[in-house]
Amino acid sequence: MPNLPDHLLRRFTPETRIAFFTGAGISAESGIPTFRDKDGYWSKYDPMRLASVQGFEADPELVWNWYLYRREKIMSVKPNPGHASITKFQKLFPDSCVITQNVDGLHKQAGNQNIYELHGNIFITRCLECRQEMDVPMIFDPAKEGIPRCDCGGLARPGVVWFGESLPVQTLSDAMTQVQQVDVLFTIGSSTAVYPAAQIPFDARNNGAVVIEINPDQTPFTSHADLAMHAPSGVVLPQLFEELYAALA
Ligand code: OAD
Repeated sequence: MPNLPDHLLRRFTPETRIAFFTGAGISAESGIPTFRDKDGYWSKYDPMRLASVQGFEADPELVWNWYLYRREKIMSVKPNPGHASITKFQKLFPDSCVITQNVDGLHKQAGNQNIYELHGNIFITRCLECRQEMDVPMIFDPAKEGIPRCDCGGLARPGVVWFGESLPVQTLSDAMTQVQQVDVLFTIGSSTAVYPAAQIPFDARNNGAVVIEINPDQTPFTSHADLAMHAPSGVVLPQLFEELYAALA
């Protein structure tokens, strides 16, 4: 599929600063469901019951069971060619980073560098009350063992950002600094529906960066993109890498 038009190809040199802004779609080809597609999690489940403090307080066991199910699912899959290509891109363009809404840790597993996890990480456990990270088993049985408690007495919760919560301040601020400096931003596999993260491709565009979208579907950002490639990221990113590698060699 890729064949970058000349005017965009010319924007790439080894000094080009690149950000890869990613959403659930980049992990779809690893076998992890997205949220808003036809078979996505939010087509079956109520996000407010499973991904909000109110939902957790109402039924912590239900919420933990869902996150434990997702932990097990993620542990059973591998990064796909989309993630792997980013590692290759980052060797060709050392001044680059990954800004992700994903909590699955697959970018790190694939060897990507400079990763900003805006929505936390599903393998981290925190105290609901004091927010301290807790060293507890990754998989447990809430019904049999109960939900672990922090020394402060607070219940353990998954270390992800829920609806109505703020993004981690330092991570967001560092990511925004990157967004202000990049020459090119790829927005990959995100519906650009959840703010403030969804603002990132718009900000990059407003700051003069070239923004290329990779997503089989249209999104609210598509009409703002310098180029939209409507195909799966596990197909597009490897081809794009080969094309740029050949052009810069
Ligand atoms: P969504 O589920 O909203 O969007 C996934 C996007 O990936 C859609 O636009 C799909 O078209 C696209 N897609 C599907 N398969 C793809 C593939 N193989 N290659 C490329 N793109 C593909 O996921 P996010 O935008 O990540 O937050 O959602 C943002 C946030 O909403 C998530 O971080 C999560 C969710 O609620 C919280 O839980 C706080």
